[in-house]
Amino acid sequence: MHDFKYKNSELFCEAVRVGDIAKKVATPFYLYSYNTLLGHFHKLRKAFGSLKPLICYSMKANSNLSICRALTKAGSGLDIVSGGELYKALLVGCSPKKIVYASVGKTEEEIRQAIAKQILFFNVESYPELELINKVAKDLNVAASVALRINPDVEPKTHSYITTGKLTNKFGIDFDTAYTILTHRKKMRHINFNGLHMHIGSQIIDAQPYIQAVKKLLGFIQKLRKEAIPIEYLNIGGGLGIIYNNEKPQTADEFAKKIVPLLKNTGLKIILEPGRFIVGNAGIVVTKILYVKKTPLKNFVIVDAGMNDLIRPSLYGAYHDILPLRPSTIDHRLSTKYDVVGPICESGDFFAKDRILPKVNEGDFLAIMSTGAYGFSMASNYNCRLRPAEVMIRGNKSFVVRKRDSYLDLVRKDVIPEFLK
Ligand code: LLP
Repeated sequence: MHDFKYKNSELFCEAVRVGDIAKKVATPFYLYSYNTLLGHFHKLRKAFGSLKPLICYSMKANSNLSICRALTKAGSGLDIVSGGELYKALLVGCSPKKIVYASVGKTEEEIRQAIAKQILFFNVESYPELELINKVAKDLNVAASVALRINPDVEPKTHSYITTGKLTNKFGIDFDTAYTILTHRKKMRHINFNGLHMHIGSQIIDAQPYIQAVKKLLGFIQKLRKEAIPIEYLNIGGGLGIIYNNEKPQTADEFAKKIVPLLKNTGLKIILEPGRFIVGNAGIVVTKILYVKKTPLKNFVIVDAGMNDLIRPSLYGAYHDILPLRPSTIDHRLSTKYDVVGPICESGDFFAKDRILPKVNEGDFLAIMSTGAYGFSMASNYNCRLRPAEVMIRGNKSFVVRKRDSYLDLVRKDVIPEFLK
């Protein structure tokens, strides 16, 4: 599943002792395993191999340039949601013909840039957006390629904040509206309608809602084809869940076994846009225990990482395993319930509540597991904290792939007007 393993009672990432990196690079920092990253990409590609899909890694999960470059070099395309992600996608050498662009709020400028770069297509989320793309394409005297993002109204059984495929969500276009758009498509003279897109949510454990959504879209495509409305691409989105705690998500193979037969012989070009599945288990946060604080009611382990570095527990109540780097130094008979918390001035700043951990001491290092996806990409400078460094391991070598912020980074963009000087 991943390349973070204990050897002789010490946590290793591939062939490197994580403790050695912790001594070299000050904590907290993100640590990525190149092998795990590529392993997951290839696993998915192999599972869906018979469809020869285009896999567009969803950059929002982790847009570190080295992560994106590694995947691009392995043949991945990229799923983007902003002008910033387009900029980074092109910087890592991704072919525009492998870039798909979703987002309910694309600005005119972002649309213009993406059309100018000739990306594969926009995943269009509303009629007004389509009108704007048509107008911008007309200004540029070109035709823009789009896939309509369908909201299939299914329940993906995940956290409500990351459910996207129900009609109460802001995402996508309902079937009836999509039908009306497609039957009147000739009115949009600067749009090529290339396909359909869906993305029903994230951290989906059960394949059933996914299957239901794919079937709904395939039924719709049949109806369209009967009316001579051609659909070339079907983008089935991302959302594959991973193991954080004791979930039993579908493996890539199990998932593919259920989905591939539905899509075989449809003549459709298939796109997948996974983020978490590829990068989630390929990263950890390494943090140091600053204090162990006992109060009349609680034991707090106060670490040097905070919710600004990793917001998932605070925002979604997400579970992440927390492992000591050197369990041998720890007395397992003295296991205690701890709240593992950061230094930030909010009670929401926690990584675990009432978690049973072996007795830990000040100065010990801990690994917060499975934080490769939506970890650094959601980090901030809240409390004027420096966003952490990111390090990548490949075999027995380590590479700093992003330096820790500096104090100068904190003030670089601030401007004090003359009257305050
Ligand atoms: N495609 C679209 C259109 C998306 O909105 C997303 C994720 C993906 C693909 C990739 O989904 P994945 O394969 O990673 O599940 N911050 C949350 C997750 C937000 C997901 C947003 N959209 C978290 O930490 O759980």
